[in-house]
Amino acid sequence: MDRISKAIELAAERRRSGKLEKKLPRSESALPFEYTKTRRIAVQPDVMRENRLIVGSDQQIIVDAYKLLRTRVLHRMQQNNWRTLGITSPGANVGKTLTSVNLAISVAMKHEHTVVLVDADLRRPSVNKCFGIEAEYGLLDYLEEGIPLDRILINPGIDGFVIIPSHNHGHALSSERLSSTRMERLVRELTERYPDRLVLFDLPPILVGDDVEAFSPYLDAFLIVVEDGKTDTAEYAKTIEILEHEDVLGTVLNKSDEIGHGYDYYY
Ligand SMILES: Nc1ncnc2c1ncn2[C@@H]1O[C@H](COP(=O)(O)OP(=O)(O)OP(=O)(O)O)[C@@H](O)[C@H]1O
Ligand SMILES: [Mg+2]
Repeated sequence: MDRISKAIELAAERRRSGKLEKKLPRSESALPFEYTKTRRIAVQPDVMRENRLIVGSDQQIIVDAYKLLRTRVLHRMQQNNWRTLGITSPGANVGKTLTSVNLAISVAMKHEHTVVLVDADLRRPSVNKCFGIEAEYGLLDYLEEGIPLDRILINPGIDGFVIIPSHNHGHALSSERLSSTRMERLVRELTERYPDRLVLFDLPPILVGDDVEAFSPYLDAFLIVVEDGKTDTAEYAKTIEILEHEDVLGTVLNKSDEIGHGYDYYY
């Protein structure tokens, strides 16, 4: 077992031995959210395949790995009555967005669940790009301009799945926007209207800026993505330290060939 794998197992062991409760207080009633008006865009299957999305994939071993991740995530979320999950990583470019998108698709495949994937990486947003979709409006248009959600939400042709894209690169006030009262209101709107809905947030790397820490009060739990052979143990240890008082569901060891395929998941 290499060093990052050992570090992940050690962190999981520590998590099992004690946690703190910290959750966003729930408001009294749901706010209006016009889900039914969501724009549906049919995405080309070859675009999704090229971008490694599992829709229509014939690589069963990969589809199965994401389904396993989905089932474990859903169990933990249900056991704890959690609704919001943030996906982050120590550094950049390790596969957070791909993990978020394929996890969301796998959740939507289970018909009793619906899922919203919010592109909360205001520095390097890319969720809509995975689907080859150009977003007219994004999260910042809601937060800064008050553009209604039904003009922002996109359904990429998959039942039970909507995206809130982002498209403003390098936003100087990203952490302020993510921790704003409007953002808090959005999280409430997304979680309270449909009890079977899981809300996923594709976040920036935790060690780049304060976005993830600023947004953490609005999240029930975190999933950490690391890249085998790239994320080093010191970066991972720092991430675990920062998230010490948060609920961390587990760590995805991405791009690993340790057990003969490209994906692995430590719980
Ligand atoms: N398991 C994998 N196998 C092969 N390629 C992968 C895997 N995971 C991600 N990739 C590819 O690696 C690249 C980076 O992935 P992704 O955009 O998901 O990373 P990220 O952590 O979200 O990056 P950023 O920090 O810029 O947000 C993409 O081209 C993606 O398709
Ligand atoms: Mg990303």
